[in-house]
Amino acid sequence: MKFKFLIVLFLGLFTLLSMPEFSRAEYGDIILNRKAESMRKAGVNDVMFPHWFHRIRFKCKVCHEDIFILKAGANDINMSLIMNGEKCGKCHNGIIAWEPLYCDRCHSWEPGWLPGPVQHSKKVSK
Ligand code: HEC
Ligand code: HEC
Ligand code: HEC
Repeated sequence: MKFKFLIVLFLGLFTLLSMPEFSRAEYGDIILNRKAESMRKAGVNDVMFPHWFHRIRFKCKVCHEDIFILKAGANDINMSLIMNGEKCGKCHNGIIAWEPLYCDRCHSWEPGWLPGPVQHSKKVSK
């Protein structure tokens, strides 16, 4: 009796893992723009929250639902809360993560940029 050895060769699939240049956000990122008007007035961009970036670093339970309700657009966030250590400020306090002084790191979404695979917290015209 002869044993047959079936050798299956899987050729390495070199998929394009890098994000296309034009996309400023990753899949699953959430744009927080309930406060669009106030942000325009203050001259800052909408907030692009890198959800995935955070998800790989923390258990869901860390944020949901003690800090954030599990629903896009449902969270009422503003800068006084953040500066007082609430919401994003629970971590962005200079201890767990950098302080909320670097406006542009969070306010990085220019309305009108090519919409990538991004979930919008709230649709804003213009
Ligand atoms: C850690 C992330 C983060 C940083 C850093 C940050 N913000 Fe915000 N900011 C937010 C989020 C989230 C909201 C709520 C956005 C929404 O829901 O529309 C917000 C809302 C705002 C608003 C509208 C609401 C309000 O409080 O008046 C203004 C204005 C604003 N930010 C200005 C700033 C300025 C100026 C800086 C830098 C000194 C800054 N932000 C830094 C996350 C951040
Ligand atoms: C660092 C905090 C943080 C962590 C950790 C986190 N999330 Fe979130 N999540 C958010 C924020 C902020 C929002 C946006 C809420 C809003 O738009 O008001 C959100 C929104 C969501 C939503 C709503 C999206 C929608 O379309 O309604 C789901 C679902 C969700 N998260 C699931 C998860 C799961 C599953 C995990 C763990 C694998 C996780 N999150 C970890 C902060 C976090
Ligand atoms: C549970 C803790 C936690 C919460 C809550 C949290 N963050 Fe973060 N965030 C982090 C940590 C940790 C980092 C990485 C800091 C570093 O690299 O030094 C980070 C990094 C970031 C970055 C930079 C991502 C990158 O590519 O380098 C952005 C933007 C950001 N957070 C926005 C937000 C916004 C907006 C909120 C609120 C909606 C928020 N974060 C809430 C912990 C948190």
